[in-house]
Amino acid sequence: MRVYKSIELLVNEIDSIKRRRETIGLVPTMGYLHEGHLSLIRKARKDTDCVVVSIFVNPIQFGPGEDLKQYPRDLNRDLRLCRASGADIVFFPTSKIMYSNGFSSYVNVEGPTDRLCGASRPGHFKGVATVVAKLFNIVNPDIAYFGQKDAQQAIVIKKMVEDLNMPVKIKVQPIVREKDGLAMSSRNAYLNPCQRRQALSLYRSLKLAQELYKKGEKDPKKIIKGMRRVILKEKGAKIDYVSIVDTKKLKGLNRISEKALVAVAVKIGKTRLIDNVILN
Ligand code: PAJ
Repeated sequence: MRVYKSIELLVNEIDSIKRRRETIGLVPTMGYLHEGHLSLIRKARKDTDCVVVSIFVNPIQFGPGEDLKQYPRDLNRDLRLCRASGADIVFFPTSKIMYSNGFSSYVNVEGPTDRLCGASRPGHFKGVATVVAKLFNIVNPDIAYFGQKDAQQAIVIKKMVEDLNMPVKIKVQPIVREKDGLAMSSRNAYLNPCQRRQALSLYRSLKLAQELYKKGEKDPKKIIKGMRRVILKEKGAKIDYVSIVDTKKLKGLNRISEKALVAVAVKIGKTRLIDNVILN
């Protein structure tokens, strides 16, 4: 496994991989890797000849007052996990390398970025789309892998690729959960044992949504009401949103007739957690 900080050196290696006509799979991450990330790396390993993992805590996707400084980091552990999961190349640039003096070009995907997380984190998806576009240009992957955990992010990236004719296929992989159902996240490291228990309310609320839907409930308002009640039973929980939306434009539904995304964002103490399920 090779580790690059420099864009130029990485691009040289990518050129020689392309000359050998090998396929490239890219897994973009912010590091502090867990099984969710590793499932993407393993899938890339199965699909493609050369697996590139990027580890970069992207400053431009964090808003003022968010957790950029505290975001957990452990490069040596990440490198070990990347190697064990089959990565060939790790790209680990600094902010200075990615955003050199005078950087001023951004990708703004209008529409799906206004809603859900976009509403409470203005500029977040602009930062995500911009860094992912940069990574696509640097790594030139045949396939890029994203997690359903960040459902809105995956939708935004797919739209960017379609709108801007980027020559890359996007594959979205299922959410990896802890045994008790909590969706894995680097941010779970912020939770103390009491908060860790409260965090389970997100999963419980999504299970309730699935149960109600299975029993025939098609009214999003009723499902959302039940979900909010489950979450607010936890004293430390503060709801950002509980939404049921269509899976393309992320617009609210009056009635669930097609595929619907049930998405929640909840603050447990200072930690903002997200999770979702699809009703089909
Ligand atoms: P990060 O939060 O590190 O996540 C990297 C990738 O892992 C994302 O595609 C995310 O959806 C996926 N992932 C995280 N937790 C998961 C889980 N429990 N199950 C399955 N997949 C999971 O998302 C980002 O970084 C950044 O926004 C990034 C795309 C790298 C741009 O900076």
